[in-house]
Amino acid sequence: MVFGILLFLQIANSAFADLALKRSQIRFIKVKPHGVHWSYHGEFGPANWLSVYPHCGGEKQSPVHIDSTKVFVDRKLDDFNFHGYDATPERNLTIKNNGHTVKVSIEGPLPQVSGGGLKDSYSAAQFHFHWGSVDDRGSEHAMDGKNYPMEMHLVHYADKYRSLNEAVDKPDGLKVLGFFFEIGDRNPNFDKLISHFNSIKHKDAESTLEPISLHSLMPENLSVYFRYHGSLTTPPCFESVTWTVFKDTVKISKQQMESFRHTLKGNSKGEKDEALTEIYRPLQPLNSRNIYASKVFERPIDDPLTRAILRDSAIQSSSFLSIVLTVVFFVLFS
Ligand SMILES: *[C@@H]1O[C@H](CO)[C@@H](O)[C@H](O)[C@H]1NC(C)=O
Ligand SMILES: *[C@@H]1O[C@H](CO)[C@@H](O)[C@H](O)[C@H]1NC(C)=O
Ligand SMILES: [Zn+2]
Repeated sequence: MVFGILLFLQIANSAFADLALKRSQIRFIKVKPHGVHWSYHGEFGPANWLSVYPHCGGEKQSPVHIDSTKVFVDRKLDDFNFHGYDATPERNLTIKNNGHTVKVSIEGPLPQVSGGGLKDSYSAAQFHFHWGSVDDRGSEHAMDGKNYPMEMHLVHYADKYRSLNEAVDKPDGLKVLGFFFEIGDRNPNFDKLISHFNSIKHKDAESTLEPISLHSLMPENLSVYFRYHGSLTTPPCFESVTWTVFKDTVKISKQQMESFRHTLKGNSKGEKDEALTEIYRPLQPLNSRNIYASKVFERPIDDPLTRAILRDSAIQSSSFLSIVLTVVFFVLFS
């Protein structure tokens, strides 16, 4: 019996070793200097990022599915302190179609965030979006089995590093705030941004954006959020991101959402137009990680742990009740 198990382990082990060897050979053959082409579809799509960018095959990749019945509420995850997230005239913003997304880079005095359970302070360097072609997909993270039509990432780097570039591969380098979008009324706070899409239709086109309040692009309730450690969701997939995904959503109209899907193109000017859409990475395994919820989060009732706690307290209160009844009985009838 023991021998059988050992033999099995031996075989399994060598099979894995073979696999690992094959993977490293593939990697070796395909590795090229920096700037290797990647995309969300086809030959260079997410399933093959790993062969050129080995970090994309790591154990702590993003995005992940957030199952709110399995998160751990962490009392240390308090509110954020935001400084400079309102419109500042001396701050220049550049909006660019980089062929993978629409990205707004922040220059000049950067907005800074602290709190939210993190010791350091972080500077906001850029934000960008991930979206799909229909309303039931497009977000990178998923929440209780649901995908949203769009997700915005506000990328910060730790102030102990000098720049986003320096921080990007450090384990504690980045903090990204993720916001889900839902279809609702027209959101005037997105009008300025969307009005630039026509001038950055093609890959590598950029334009200067008037001062814009970052706060106005976020949802109302920033107290309820989820926290875990993960990665960049695009190559090179460095595992340098402390993620915060907010529960409250940003609302934009169907028409505004359609501007993201149809105005922007993924190709350079002069090439055949292809819509810039379906630009999100599929869910990655959580592996041994936990997801934490901010202190005000109330865990949904239908999970085993909550049920067990409720059952225990029910037993306790029923035994308390029986003691009271016994005492009352004795007082009355003795
Ligand atoms: C903003 O851009 C203008 C024009 O390009 C430039 O003169 C100015 O110095 C920039 N401001 C900052 C804070 O970078
Ligand atoms: C956000 O929602 C939570 C949970 O519903 C609530 O406790 C908190 O007071 C809300 N915060 C704000 C600023 O509305
Ligand atoms: Zn992103």
